[in-house]
Amino acid sequence: MERLETQLHDCAGRPQGSRITLPPETYYDPDWFTLERARVHETDWLFLGHVSELPREGSYLCVDVLDEPLFLVRDEEANVRVLSRVCRHRGVDMRPETHAGRIRGFVCPYHHWSYKLSGKLRNAPLMDGSEVFHPENCALPEFRHEIWNGFIFVTFDPDARPLAERLGHFDTRLSNWRLAEMGVVRKQDWPAPWNWKVMVENFVEGYHHIGTHARSLEPIWPANTHKTESAPAGTTMLRFPNSEDYLARRVHREAGAGTDGLGAIPGLADADLEASLVLSVLPSLTGFLVEDRAYVFRILPTGPESTSLTTYELIHEELLQAAGAEAKLPLEFEMFDTFHREDLALLAQMTGGLKARAARQGALSPFEEPIWQLQRYLSGKFRKNGA
Ligand code: FES
Ligand SMILES: [Fe+2]
Repeated sequence: MERLETQLHDCAGRPQGSRITLPPETYYDPDWFTLERARVHETDWLFLGHVSELPREGSYLCVDVLDEPLFLVRDEEANVRVLSRVCRHRGVDMRPETHAGRIRGFVCPYHHWSYKLSGKLRNAPLMDGSEVFHPENCALPEFRHEIWNGFIFVTFDPDARPLAERLGHFDTRLSNWRLAEMGVVRKQDWPAPWNWKVMVENFVEGYHHIGTHARSLEPIWPANTHKTESAPAGTTMLRFPNSEDYLARRVHREAGAGTDGLGAIPGLADADLEASLVLSVLPSLTGFLVEDRAYVFRILPTGPESTSLTTYELIHEELLQAAGAEAKLPLEFEMFDTFHREDLALLAQMTGGLKARAARQGALSPFEEPIWQLQRYLSGKFRKNGA
């Protein structure tokens, strides 16, 4: 592991022009994965869901993250809480049959201990006579969370620096999109039998439009026109100028024809309409902001070569209310699926390639700066949280 760690720091320390990929083993070695999980994911903020998924008192979601079974819930006082799903009696995971919905409280199926939405114990039958049972000590454990632009993050590290502090710069840059006011119109889980870095790296760089998305995205957002924007440590941001082709389609749409879009979010400035943004809040959220919506990926590691991947499409209610918007959605979803499947097919090929005897570290294009930013982030985490 020492050799890999040295190589990680070497990658992260390289200046523009001499940057290379991480050693292939870091994408499949189980021991490296264990280290990475302990030093990176266990010590940072992890994206779990969006506030629009918890619209009312009692709305809940089940999320498993780093083997921790969690409820995200809106409690009796409209607060979002991140609670353990583990019963305080004998440790049953109280996951309900449906893993999202609305509930009055949580009931353990084993002996019917019940809990309020706040996590406090409501009732535990037939416990009279136990001298060590103290209801006030039996609330479901609550985990530290933060809500950033409507996205709910959790951390298991009591010393993690507040997320809002780290992301300050992003707030101004993204404010016109009003991400917290958007609603999730589609959420899907996808098989991702590869390392989490493969998923993140693919999302954060735009160089691959030239090959993977040669017919879908490249004509609209060509690889050779995009720029890496400065972004706070632990985040990345690309700016893709909207090509002539893209703008022509928008004009076409404004004239009332076509189904390729829902119009522009009211409040976006002219500068916002000129380009689309690809961003990440490492290590678990990546997002793509265009004029009428946000695509967000939740990327949570489940093993050295397995990742829990959930995609979200978020749209403002006001755009959904516009005439004809509903009818356009199936085609819009199809468009997303097209380029997403292009990525997935490619990543499957890459996963096999990285494990080959012949796999080596390769040179990065200057257009792949976000991959180096991920290396720098990882290297920082290893130095700070190393043994
Ligand atoms: S384990 Fe939950 S009530 Fe017994
Ligand atoms: Fe892609």
